[in-house]
Amino acid sequence: MAKTYMVGNWKMNQGLQDLKSFFAELSAKNLPEGNFWIAPQAIQIQKAIELSLGSSVKIGSQNCSNENFGAFTGEINTTSLKEIGAHFTIIGHSERRAIFNESDELINSKVQKALNDSLTPIFCFGETLEQREAGKTLDIVLGQIKAGLVNIKIENADQLILAYEPVWAIGTGKTATPDQAEEVHAAIRSLLKELYGDLGADLSILYGGSVKPANVLELLSKPNINGGLVGGASLKAEDFAALCSATL
Ligand code: PGA
Repeated sequence: MAKTYMVGNWKMNQGLQDLKSFFAELSAKNLPEGNFWIAPQAIQIQKAIELSLGSSVKIGSQNCSNENFGAFTGEINTTSLKEIGAHFTIIGHSERRAIFNESDELINSKVQKALNDSLTPIFCFGETLEQREAGKTLDIVLGQIKAGLVNIKIENADQLILAYEPVWAIGTGKTATPDQAEEVHAAIRSLLKELYGDLGADLSILYGGSVKPANVLELLSKPNINGGLVGGASLKAEDFAALCSATL
């Protein structure tokens, strides 16, 4: 069975003081054990790892390089992420694709690099509003997955997480309805079974795009929605704790 995750993507939002207050408030809530992950800004990953020690929260990055050490100004390598205790890395978020022109090929090589360094990739994809309205949602989404996972081999279902994030639902307050999301997740599940056989049934497929405490339970009630990748609503400890509780 696929595991359920709740992952906060803080983007470039929290300062150091916010980070400290967040973890102080979260620890007061005594979260039970679960798959609760947070990706702060790169500069705060190490501090977040320190602050989350002893809790069930694991820390990762919002992006990584496909390269190893070398002359790559401004990049972050997965070897160093692993070395400081990071657990996962988000790869191919729509903001990386759109603002930083990341291609399917680059994303594919980042997924491979993360796997090589035993960092769990959360591989993201999703259609724009224009693509949805043109009836191309499944073509786009399944195409991005096939391209992003070229030659990617895994041995167990914990090694790779997928995240469907319709671009029109990110930061807009517009959530895909649970049925709209499940339709896409079910198609993704079929593709994963084609690509990975039995393992495909156990891979977790997260949904992202305006997930909040008020809509999370309904989304998670769908058979192929195995958690959330959450931006805005993950910034407040109280909301994040409520989202995490919904996975249990
Ligand atoms: P949102 O962002 O929850 O603020 O819509 C989700 C994401 O970009 O991962």
